[in-house]
Amino acid sequence: MHLHKYEKIWLSFGIGSLILFLAILGVSAFAFGHHPPSEMATVDSQNLSEDPIFSNPGLEEIGDNRYRAVLIAQAFGYNPSKIEVPEGATVEFLVTSSDVIHSFTIPGTNVNFMVTPGHVNSAEYTFRESGEYLVICNEYCGTGHQFMQMVIEVVP
Ligand code: CUA
Repeated sequence: MHLHKYEKIWLSFGIGSLILFLAILGVSAFAFGHHPPSEMATVDSQNLSEDPIFSNPGLEEIGDNRYRAVLIAQAFGYNPSKIEVPEGATVEFLVTSSDVIHSFTIPGTNVNFMVTPGHVNSAEYTFRESGEYLVICNEYCGTGHQFMQMVIEVVP
């Protein structure tokens, strides 16, 4: 078979692109595949009262002005519905859902993540300014969705 010169060039280009594409896929799988996000930690959503973390939701001091907030999202609120931390506190949020998909969103901050049943969803935030921070749900979760909220009180 005799190929025209330009056909050869285009064929080489096509094969080259394919190899490059596969290489990128492979590199991505290698780079990200070994570091599952924290959201991959699982929890039995039907049995939260038996769970070592979520059986006792609330705030815990874990270091120098560092806190862990364990929260359960459910239609249509969060448990607990209010936490209080001092100004400058860094809070690690561990949130799961006991029913459907919700979100944990603090407007004005970069904290905005989906809360999925069966998973430990997490984020960390340092509250540098005192005041009342509202947490809202950004995922439509039913008739009470727009009323779903909690409060983080950051005291000076
Ligand atoms: Cu929970 Cu919308």
